[in-house]
Amino acid sequence: MKSTRSLVQTRNIMSKNESVMERADVNVRATETRDNTGKSNSIPNLETVKAKQKATWESGDFGQVARSIENVAEEFMARQSLQRGSRVLDVACGTGNLAIIAAQSGCVVSGIDIAANLLDQARGRAAGAGLNIDFQQADAEALPFAKDSFDLVVSMFGVMFAPQPAIAAAELLRVTKPGGQIALANWTPEGFIGKMFGVFKAHLPPPPAGVPSPMQWGSEPVVQERLGTGFTNLRLTRRIAYMRYPFPPAETVAFFRKYYGPTLRAFESLAPAAQEALQRDLVELQTRHNTSKTPGTTEAAAEYLEVVATKA
Ligand SMILES: C[S@@+](CC[C@H](N)C(=O)[O-])C[C@H]1O[C@@H](n2cnc3c(N)ncnc32)[C@H](O)[C@@H]1O
Repeated sequence: MKSTRSLVQTRNIMSKNESVMERADVNVRATETRDNTGKSNSIPNLETVKAKQKATWESGDFGQVARSIENVAEEFMARQSLQRGSRVLDVACGTGNLAIIAAQSGCVVSGIDIAANLLDQARGRAAGAGLNIDFQQADAEALPFAKDSFDLVVSMFGVMFAPQPAIAAAELLRVTKPGGQIALANWTPEGFIGKMFGVFKAHLPPPPAGVPSPMQWGSEPVVQERLGTGFTNLRLTRRIAYMRYPFPPAETVAFFRKYYGPTLRAFESLAPAAQEALQRDLVELQTRHNTSKTPGTTEAAAEYLEVVATKA
């Protein structure tokens, strides 16, 4: 398998001072509420669900995939306000794609993620680049920071995977300074990755009860509902990430099957015949959406919703 470094491009197509008790209180309140889409937030066996998600993201090697979206990260961060000395938090930072860019711009950066092995890679990358970044293992639904801590809170294809979006949204709001911004990149339900989710949905048992689809974070009305209280100047822009791989569609599926934890775990959960059926449908999707003009390579235009908002 060849390297996929810097293979993705995007273009615009549209327009620790807070106590543990306070953080625990956020969790207690949130499990008692409903999210802003009106659906119940109560997830039976929440701790089991979270443990499984952590194990899923720690399987494979997301770092390999993250390299293929470095250009998406660079273009996304180029649109944000990265003032030297300002405090930036990368939520669900993975191997640190956004955090490293912010630190290179002179920001004072923290990054959190549930996956210990990805944080190890993030720390290695930062050290290799001579950057001092505070990477911590933490849940997006219980951020280990005092309220009003950050000038900018970013998350690329990250916070959208937290199982309780109302709590995650409340945490984004809590740690952002008044007048500070959040900037999120969320795959849309209608885009290529949303369609891929549809393929998995057709082949897998339903997700745990009470866990909404991460793709809802790519729907404008849902985002407005979730962030409308507490944030102002909500700017929602659909953009395209061109995901390019130097091998044909079937090998691209194999690449994700090897390195992308959710894909790897999905295949592992299926019997051989069901694995073959999933593989066939994924290759068909990747082939149908392949816009590459170069034989033997793959390109998919994957739509995401860029969400920028200011804390009131
Ligand atoms: C698709 S990866 C994106 C990583 C990184 N933002 C990037 O752009 O390369 C999703 C990340 O979300 C993390 N994640 C999922 N659920 C999380 C949660 N509840 N809290 C913190 N991180 C979470 C995963 O461990 C994984 O690193």
